[in-house]
Amino acid sequence: MSVRLLSKLAAPAPRYTSYPTAPHFHAGIDAAVYRGWLEELPDGASLSLYLHIPYCDRLCWFCACHTKQTLSYAPVQRYLEALKREIATVGAAVGRRRMVSAVHFGGGSPTLLRADDMVALSEALSSSFEIPVGCEISVEIDPSDMDEARFDALARAGMTRASLGVQDFEPAVQKAINRMQSYEQTRWAVESVRERGVASVNLDVLYGLPHQTEATLTRTLEQVLTLSPDRIALFGYAHVPWFKKHQTMIDEAALPDIAARYGQAQLAARLVQAAGYVPVGLDHFSKPSDGLAQACVEGRLRRNFQGYTVDEADALIGLGASAVGRLPQGYVQNLSATGQYERALVEGGLAVARGIGFTPEDRARSFVIERLMCDFGFSGVELRDRFGPAGKVILREAQDLAAMDEDGLFLRQGDNFVVPQEARPFVRNVAARFDTYLRNGQARHSQAI
Ligand SMILES: C[S@@+](CC[C@H](N)C(=O)[O-])C[C@H]1O[C@@H](n2cnc3c(N)ncnc32)[C@H](O)[C@@H]1O
Ligand code: SF4
Repeated sequence: MSVRLLSKLAAPAPRYTSYPTAPHFHAGIDAAVYRGWLEELPDGASLSLYLHIPYCDRLCWFCACHTKQTLSYAPVQRYLEALKREIATVGAAVGRRRMVSAVHFGGGSPTLLRADDMVALSEALSSSFEIPVGCEISVEIDPSDMDEARFDALARAGMTRASLGVQDFEPAVQKAINRMQSYEQTRWAVESVRERGVASVNLDVLYGLPHQTEATLTRTLEQVLTLSPDRIALFGYAHVPWFKKHQTMIDEAALPDIAARYGQAQLAARLVQAAGYVPVGLDHFSKPSDGLAQACVEGRLRRNFQGYTVDEADALIGLGASAVGRLPQGYVQNLSATGQYERALVEGGLAVARGIGFTPEDRARSFVIERLMCDFGFSGVELRDRFGPAGKVILREAQDLAAMDEDGLFLRQGDNFVVPQEARPFVRNVAARFDTYLRNGQARHSQAI
């Protein structure tokens, strides 16, 4: 594919981990609105909890997460006190009549916490929420943080899934992204979680990094595959230095161009599929026996701020600085600056910064965009039947888009609309055609490949 065509098809687009996307959240959704939304949750509603730890003891130059480096533990302790207050306040507003089906510790690096703090945090959750035995508990692990005490603490906290950051094993690439992490260290971390009964291990791998080539990526993936992960997340490096200043440490001249990125993504997909993994959504692969692959086959795959998931809870509660929640009424996001977040909780309130309430049209567009991102298509009949007048408007847009499409990105097949196999890498750009906020907005996004 020519560079010109690739650049046209893969124009910058949101990652669609939500719709409407975060740049369109506004301050009209405040703590009082959020409290009302929490109290309106029906009895028996299922909840999933996301806890954000916005600290790391190292700063990888590529990182686009909400995090900051700290070499002292004092700020982390202050933060944990605020987080426990938020857990207690939200738990009191929600009540214990709603069952938690999944808990996710993300960041930043939750594994930067000391072992006794990990246990204390999990106890704080259990004393405010109804967390049943067998609840899915997943943790993002930075292998370089780990020691036996931390692995034991995570096991005590009931961890059932672990997601480990790898990114790349090639020394030249690691140096360019300021992330030194050996294969042996990573293997030890994978073995350590498995020894403690964790049944599902995900590894994060990146393409499009400085100095990466198809040859280096092949070597990294061969090493990754020897660890037999249950899932592999294969993300394209999002270079957004206007948003993350430390990415200016990355030498842009060493970044692969769009054609090279496309080649790397295709090669990586071929390699992991040849090893028996099945593709899930845009950037995940899993063993066929894994729940993610099964959900994909059955059309139950979901997408939220953590990426692809099988979580079907009625509400996602975000806890911690910058955390995003999704309630039946809309999205809500906490203050991002840790100082402001802590002050809001010390003053006895909630730490909401902004959010957005869903309109009927948002719900219909959200359905279309989520199904595109998960299944690469959607049913026109389902759209019309579930969303009434709003669905009919979008159905007409879909018909027009399919009729006018010159690039083979979006086809109509009877009552269904699909993104064909060869156009799947560009699905974000197809989804963007259904995003009315994007048409009116100013936000800058990363390259879609
Ligand atoms: C919170 S980190 C994972 C846990 C832990 N902090 C670690 O690094 O091992 C989340 C993941 O997001 C991905 N990520 C971070 N910045 C990215 C970027 N600019 N583009 C694409 N993926 C990125 C990385 O693969 C990273 O492993
Ligand atoms: S990739 Fe992980 S360890 Fe590195 S800075 Fe980002 S959150 Fe921290």
